[in-house]
Amino acid sequence: MAKMTTQKLKEMKDQGIKISMTTAYDYPTAYLVDKAGIEIILVGDSLMMAVLGDDSTVACTMEQMIHHIKPVVLGAPNPLIVGDMPFGSYNVSKEQAIVNATRLMKEGRCDVIKLEGGKEVADTVKAIVDAGIPVMGHIGLTPQTVSKLGGFKVQGKGEEAARGVLEDALALQEAGAWGIVLECVPEMLAKLITEKLEIPTIGIGGGRYCDGQVLVFHDMMGLFEKFTPKFVKQYRNLADEMVSALSTFKEEIRTGAFPEEKHVFGGVGEEELKRLY
Ligand code: KIV
Repeated sequence: MAKMTTQKLKEMKDQGIKISMTTAYDYPTAYLVDKAGIEIILVGDSLMMAVLGDDSTVACTMEQMIHHIKPVVLGAPNPLIVGDMPFGSYNVSKEQAIVNATRLMKEGRCDVIKLEGGKEVADTVKAIVDAGIPVMGHIGLTPQTVSKLGGFKVQGKGEEAARGVLEDALALQEAGAWGIVLECVPEMLAKLITEKLEIPTIGIGGGRYCDGQVLVFHDMMGLFEKFTPKFVKQYRNLADEMVSALSTFKEEIRTGAFPEEKHVFGGVGEEELKRLY
């Protein structure tokens, strides 16, 4: 697979070829995602919950994002790498947003950035795009402002709320975003938005008609056991496999079944050993 670009993703939308995207937060995961031919890797601020044990994404810092983007870029040369802008890193001013988006690109080396919000961040998106940085939007359920939304709930239910989400999508496209994540919105609203927009939509709880789908790696692999949202399909249960492997490891240490002769090193002869004793 040659390096993925936002232009190629737009061509995929135009040709009706569905786009796949998943998260990765480290080198080995990124390497495997690339090997599977997935088109986009998101280094999401979901890392706070998936790998750092927090119960929300709000506390994520620029330093944490950069720390995790770097190994993903090294492990996955082919997919488009999206770096998430943490909460509070783009809301103070357009200047603050440009400075922080530039840091993710220069220090993390991601290809594009993503930020949450609709109409209210459209000017910020335009400013970042004008500074030469491709921006992906994220609307519907926006986890960084989940307190304001009143919890992890489906957004855009009913005509008025649906119109609001549609207007958000149009405002982001107008501002120059190259693509949009649609999280937890009614399927037929996501279909309408996907048909109205020229840029790709990537759904997570956005139903079957988006241009692509994204899942958090740890959710789809069964590595996050705290809760499983309705939109997640668990493709494997790696947690069970890992616990089983670790239990066998413990058992084999107790019984002496591990290590075996093939795992050990020679290098001290019998005579040498006698003298050492
Ligand atoms: O941080 C993340 O993983 C995300 C996805 C839920 C799209 O933003």
